[in-house]
Formats: sequence, C-alpha cells, structure tokens
Amino acid sequence: MQVNAALCDDTMPDSLMDVLLSPSPDGSAVAGAADFLALLNTQQRLAVEHGTGPGQDAGPLLVIAGAGSGKTHTLAGRVAHLVLKGTDPQRILLLTFTRRAAAEMERRAGQLLHRALGAATRHGPGALQWAGTFHSVGARLLREYAPRIGLQESFTILDRGDAEDLMAIVRHELGVDATKRRFPTKTTCLKIYSRVVNGEVALTEVLERDYAWCVAWEAQLTKLFDAYVRAKQAQNILDLDDLLL
Ligand SMILES: Nc1ncnc2c1ncn2[C@@H]1O[C@H](COP(=O)(O)OP(=O)(O)O)[C@@H](O)[C@H]1O
Ligand SMILES: [Mg+2]
Repeated sequence: MQVNAALCDDTMPDSLMDVLLSPSPDGSAVAGAADFLALLNTQQRLAVEHGTGPGQDAGPLLVIAGAGSGKTHTLAGRVAHLVLKGTDPQRILLLTFTRRAAAEMERRAGQLLHRALGAATRHGPGALQWAGTFHSVGARLLREYAPRIGLQESFTILDRGDAEDLMAIVRHELGVDATKRRFPTKTTCLKIYSRVVNGEVALTEVLERDYAWCVAWEAQLTKLFDAYVRAKQAQNILDLDDLLL
C-alpha cells in the first residue's frame, strides 16, 4: 500500500464539529473548504494546510498539543483538506492508540469528510478505510501480506492474557520455574519479552535497567523467549507486539 498521508492522534469529545456538521439552512451540506478553514485557529490551519500549497513539500509534521486543544479537530480538518485537494481517502492512514479514540477519530474525520465536503467530493462515509488503532491496522496489513512473509493468512491473535498463558505453558514445559528461588511470573516474563522486542533492546540491557531483580534469570529467560517464539510460529499465532513490528 502506498500511503499519501499518515496521521496519528488521540481524541476528545467535540462541539465545534457539530457546528461544522450542521446542515445549512436550505438543508444542503455545509459548504466547502473556505468556510471550514475559517473555523480553524492559526495553528490548526497551519497544520491542516501543511505542505499542500503550490510547490510545497508535505514532509513530516509533528504537532504536540495538550488535551482538548483541538488536535482531533485538526486531524479531521486535515483529512477533509487533503481529500478536497484530490488525495484518495484510501491512501490516508489515520492511527491512534485505543479503540475508543480510534472510533472517535474515525467518526469525526469521516463525518467532516462526508458532510462538510459532501457537495465537493464523490467519497462517501466509510471512505477512510485505513483509520484505526495501531494494532488493528497492523493486523489488517499482516492479514493482507501474510503469505509474502511466510505466515498463514489464518493466523490468530493473542491478547495480553492469552499471551501470558502461552508464556506460562512454555515456562512450565521448560521447567525453568522449578527452582527454589522464585522465577518471574508469566506477567513479568511477558513484560520483559515485550520490552526486548518493542524497544529492540538486548535482554541484558532491559534486565539491568528495569528488572534488576531478574538479572540472575537471564539464561533461563533467553531460553524461555526462544521457546515462546517457536510456540507462536508452530501454532500460527501472533501476539500484540507482532502486530506492531
Ligand atoms: N478552532 C476551534 N474553535 C473552536 N472550537 C474548537 C476549535 N478547535 C477545536 N475546538 C473544540 O474544542 C474541543 C476539543 O477539541 P478536540 O479536537 O477534541 O481536542 P483534542 O483532540 O486536542 O483533545 C472540541 O469541542 C472541539 O470541537
Ligand atoms: Mg482528541
């Protein structure tokens, strides 16, 4: 997939959106770009129009702003602006962390796109097919490209609890917990594993930095994590970290 724009957000409730989305007195959709841009403050407008002027290059733009400052509104505006300028909504990637935030982001961006620009665009609601959480979009991409990376399309996804249980089974099979001193719990093992793969940091470093009390278990943890990965591969399953990496 070629992505034209990748946008990431967390979200908050809105009220301006309601104004933007109200039908105009004659019942037609709210007018196009000029009106909608006028409702943005200067900073929002700069972000919305970033790199879209003639001859401008839309390089990355990082916006850091507090809760309730209008980030989601800006993103929704950015989506509408890009589509109005001719970008295919299916080539806009919109990502956020939680499902709730993703639903809110999709709703607001989709509604603004559909209603505020309805008259000027052929795209309907649901046009934003690549909007969601990092995990859901990761899962979808993996499902689409699974065969190309040697994964069966029918893979299943373990949530955190399932992954801990698999870790516990592997741990038990290896017998690493059958010692006098207490081996880290399945939850801790998974957290350490996750930190190693997510941060692309060596186990030694993760242990020394954040799990000093587990340093003595490095050899066993190395074995455990190898076995955990093999078990996932053998059963055609992915954990949440696999969706992101
Ligand atoms: N330029 C603006 N003028 C007036 N109200 C705005 C503006 N931008 C955002 N808002 C309103 O402020 C509230 C918070 O905006 P929102 O985009 O949800 O913020 P954030 O995502 O940063 O938490 C919403 O009710 C939104 O409609
Ligand atoms: Mg928000």
